[in-house]
Amino acid sequence: MTTPFPLGRPARIAVLASGRGSNLEALLAAFGPDEPLGRVALVISNRASAPALDKARAAGVEALHVAYGDGTTFEAEAGQALDAAGIDLVCLAGFMRILSPAFVRRYRGRLLNIHPSLLPAFRGLHAQRQALEAGVRESGCTVHFVDEGVDTGGMIVQRRVPVRADDDEETLAARIRAEEHRAFPEAVRKVLTGRARPPAEEVPG
Ligand code: GRF
Repeated sequence: MTTPFPLGRPARIAVLASGRGSNLEALLAAFGPDEPLGRVALVISNRASAPALDKARAAGVEALHVAYGDGTTFEAEAGQALDAAGIDLVCLAGFMRILSPAFVRRYRGRLLNIHPSLLPAFRGLHAQRQALEAGVRESGCTVHFVDEGVDTGGMIVQRRVPVRADDDEETLAARIRAEEHRAFPEAVRKVLTGRARPPAEEVPG
């Protein structure tokens, strides 16, 4: 299936988050109930105590805890909830689990992730630590389409930050996070307006 965007109506956006939910907050602020391009309509977390769920509820958005288990039931239940809510676009915002190839294929071109590095550098866990250990002078964040690999899909938006000599993981993460909060809404806008498509759908020239 090719990407359906632009839709010609407000897109219904779901956010999957496992933790703090600061990227969720940025998406809630950018895609609230009056935004013509799209609205966050559902938040799902694999952790019942995730602050992300409280943030969704405080914004009046449906918030669902779905236990991860071995992943199979999570994907079935989350998939049902996404269908029931008529979701057009799914954003992974600090969702700390890997989704199966079948789930990824089902949402191809409609599934985005944010990662705290300038991909393809420093894929996987502890990207900020990897950047510090590598001694790079610059890092940042990437919003990308999700494909069957880990942090490998087509890139949509990157934002860069300096790495300072006295940075530790926390200070670097905070500087990157501030840029994530700009990058994710920007990437969602690009996708919903049809200005960003997964690599196989790009029109040459
Ligand atoms: C972000 O750094 C994101 O890049 C990574 O997980 C973190 C989530 O932070 N995938 P938050 O829950 O959005 O505050």
